[in-house]
Amino acid sequence: MKYNFDEIVNRRGTYSIKWDGGQIIKDIGLTERYDEDTIPLFTADMDLPVPQPLIEALHKTVDHRIFGYSVFPDEYFKAVQHWFKKRHDWEFKKEDIIYSPGTVHALNVAVRAFTKPGDGIIIQRPVYPPFTSSIEANGRTVVNNALKSNEEGYYSIDFEDFEQKAKDESTKMFILCNPHNPTGRIFNTDELRKLADICVKNDVLIIADEIHGDIVRRNQTFIPIAKAAEEHAKHIVTFTAINKTFNLAGLHCTNVTIPNPELRQTFNGVMGMHLPSPFTVSALISVYHDGEEWLEQLKEYIDGTMEWAVEFLAEKMPKVKVRIPEGTYIMWMDLSGYGISPDEVHDRIYNKANVLLEDGKMFGEEGLQYQRICIPSPRPMIKEAFARIAREFEDLK
Ligand SMILES: Cc1ncc(COP(=O)(O)O)c(C=O)c1O
Repeated sequence: MKYNFDEIVNRRGTYSIKWDGGQIIKDIGLTERYDEDTIPLFTADMDLPVPQPLIEALHKTVDHRIFGYSVFPDEYFKAVQHWFKKRHDWEFKKEDIIYSPGTVHALNVAVRAFTKPGDGIIIQRPVYPPFTSSIEANGRTVVNNALKSNEEGYYSIDFEDFEQKAKDESTKMFILCNPHNPTGRIFNTDELRKLADICVKNDVLIIADEIHGDIVRRNQTFIPIAKAAEEHAKHIVTFTAINKTFNLAGLHCTNVTIPNPELRQTFNGVMGMHLPSPFTVSALISVYHDGEEWLEQLKEYIDGTMEWAVEFLAEKMPKVKVRIPEGTYIMWMDLSGYGISPDEVHDRIYNKANVLLEDGKMFGEEGLQYQRICIPSPRPMIKEAFARIAREFEDLK
């Protein structure tokens, strides 16, 4: 079936944080302005309808009319194994998989389970803000191995710095984000093997947040670190999820893969028991078996939107430094070329253009001059957002 991703579906009145969460968004300080004319492109969820087989699977669950405590059938685990074998040539055992009602939840559990207060945890800023908060809120210490950006805005790992930080006695964990939010880098086999070697040598546990791993550009390949550094798999805990791939963040379904039984037991001990919702179970089984046709069309659509956006910016806002990311549906725009303060950039975009993005400073001080935009929305909406922003920067052209 052919999906029409250009269709604008009105999400107001559906408890959507993007479209109904104005007060919360203002309270957490993302913006001062939020009204019925705001185009919200700040959070990583899509304004695009999900695969048709999934709608049918969820209807079947609704039609049953009873929504009691539920269990994970064998089919659930088989569907997870099937997806990762087929899409990423990565195999693991059924008992390696632990369900978590969300990735940020799993992150906090991992921090508490595998480290103690005061321990150092390496992250690579600029990075998804809950990496920092999961460390700091649990009384652990952020050890920042900042990614380095070259002239073209391409980010790479500072391995010398990474090794030095991993060697420190107090460093116990590394949280990898791959594909990396917000830079869009997909780390290659060499990089992943190097990271894993350094971590294993220095007894630093690897937590790999790979929930963006299915959304990659057409010429790119994503390799799970537990596959790239197979011999170190017992030292790696991986998070995967249906939320980014299939626009199912509201169903809270993350799978934590832990091949090491001792680590699994420790993680489970802190996590406690979480039964699933019947909607989560039927959704996961459906998308991991019947979601590929939709996903391929979605990727094509996102690639097209990215190409359009980069061309548009080159023409209308040539001072913006931006590149098509290797993975994710996120664009990371460097606006330092305008020579105005981050506050003025914010004012022009959020208050004057009335487009809601995320200020780069939220991802660490490395992001100060940047804005993050999530583009998995109907292209007419994205075009309107970029046109509004460009208008507010015309005088600086
Ligand atoms: C790298 C990364 N991890 C975790 C999350 C949040 O996942 P969840 O909604 O499952 O907690 C996001 C959402 O944008 C993300 O980009």
